[in-house]
Amino acid sequence: MLIDSHAHLEMKEFNPDREDVIERARQAGVSYIVTVGTNLALSRKAVSLARQHENIYATIGVHPHDVARVDSKTFDDLCEIARDPKVVAYGEIGLDFFRNISPREKQIEMFNLQLELAVQLKLPVIIHDRDAHERTLRMVKASGVRRGVFHCFSGDYSMARQCIELGFYISIPGVVTFDNAKTIQDVAQRVPLSSLLLETDAPYLTPAPHRGKRNEPSFIINTAKKVAQIKGLPWEEVADVTARNTMNLFGIEASSNIK
Ligand code: NI
Repeated sequence: MLIDSHAHLEMKEFNPDREDVIERARQAGVSYIVTVGTNLALSRKAVSLARQHENIYATIGVHPHDVARVDSKTFDDLCEIARDPKVVAYGEIGLDFFRNISPREKQIEMFNLQLELAVQLKLPVIIHDRDAHERTLRMVKASGVRRGVFHCFSGDYSMARQCIELGFYISIPGVVTFDNAKTIQDVAQRVPLSSLLLETDAPYLTPAPHRGKRNEPSFIINTAKKVAQIKGLPWEEVADVTARNTMNLFGIEASSNIK
């Protein structure tokens, strides 16, 4: 079994051929796709996609890039749509001190607020952390949240260990297939399979050998095979264990309709 634990099927990049993309993933053996909301409108769209497809689950939240544009009603609306049974996590939320599209102070304020919301909603969290490792870890620790994933992990092995000790999974993106991605390859090698998830982050971060194209969930197999090669394991085992981890984290129950 293979799962893409983090994609953005609701984004406009998939408007021309979304159903073909979903079908190609199915043909490639991807059993489930978790599609991740990044603002209110896209969270709604993610939930609507999940309602239309048995093999798609949704998450909701406001990405650090988008937090400058929330108003007082945004979070009421998010709590409302969180009630849908296909919503399995809160996120992606966090800090992006690389691009700084929203002011840092606003990012910090909204990250804290959304960590609290996740607790109230009893949902695991999906954390986005770019160039903000120390601050992100400190805030997660202080929040008391102990269930979630550091998506598109970009820290080193020592940070990965701290995340795992807090109860979090580490999600490996397609970046691991790039020749010069030594840090994430080291993380993939040393972190036990029991703490790893796999993700595409489609339409972004396309793995080799598809670099230059739009990413899509069917390409998750390239990431599974690279992690398998790094760990010296059969790729089917990497796919199975990471799929089970994803189902555990998000409370996804295997459906007899889905292989
Ligand atoms: Ni993402």
